[in-house]
Amino acid sequence: MPIKVLITKNYDELSEKAAKIIADAIRNKPNLVLGLATGGTPVGCYRELVRMHKEKKLDFSRVVTFNLDEYIGLPPTHPQSYRYFMNENLFNHVNIRMENTHIPDGMTDDPQKTCEEFEKAIETAGGIDLQLLGIGANGHIAFNEPGSPFNSRTRVVEISEQTRKDNARFFQSIDEVPRQAISMGIGTIMEARKIVLLASGARKADAVAKSVKGPITEEVPASILQKHPNCTFILDEAAASKL
Ligand code: GLP
Repeated sequence: MPIKVLITKNYDELSEKAAKIIADAIRNKPNLVLGLATGGTPVGCYRELVRMHKEKKLDFSRVVTFNLDEYIGLPPTHPQSYRYFMNENLFNHVNIRMENTHIPDGMTDDPQKTCEEFEKAIETAGGIDLQLLGIGANGHIAFNEPGSPFNSRTRVVEISEQTRKDNARFFQSIDEVPRQAISMGIGTIMEARKIVLLASGARKADAVAKSVKGPITEEVPASILQKHPNCTFILDEAAASKL
């Protein structure tokens, strides 16, 4: 199925559209299994979900979540860990049960086991109903960098220099950006029943265009989404400018 593309005026509208899709999915299925993403892009969507919880009683009490990835070596108390990010941006402000939130443990001393257990937990939950994604400037999804096998599963990955540079803005210096992460695999992501990818800003325009209409190649990880039966890209005008 070709990727469905929704172009919004700006970041606020993009965030509202994404939040509405998630809220509708929760209302349709209160025990939704929701895949979540980090990075700057989904922050507005999470802010909107928090608002909907407070003002419209959007109920997270039975929602189960799985995050895409976590940096190796950052504890949950580290402000740049993805666990900290999720708690700050969403979990602490809605009525989700913390035991229903799953993020790979970046401090594990047995990464192999952690990855296997993460995959098993997704399976036990019944699979991911709706997966939210961002995209890297090089077309990466989660931390599946160019060259990642399309059939990959949750595993330890090396973070590319470009991605470390891109993410350095969140840290004091690039030296603090971890070199490895635990990431859901592309095969894992593709099993989600519905996928919504968010991209904002001209910096993402190339990766978006290549993913939507370029050849399907492991050099552009998000290009595999062209094969997903239910995938929507929500873009602002700048991110859509090369389509
Ligand atoms: C990070 C994350 C990805 C995210 C991407 C884009 O490296 N691992 O899941 O989609 O970068 O981030 P941003 O939204 O900040 O541009």
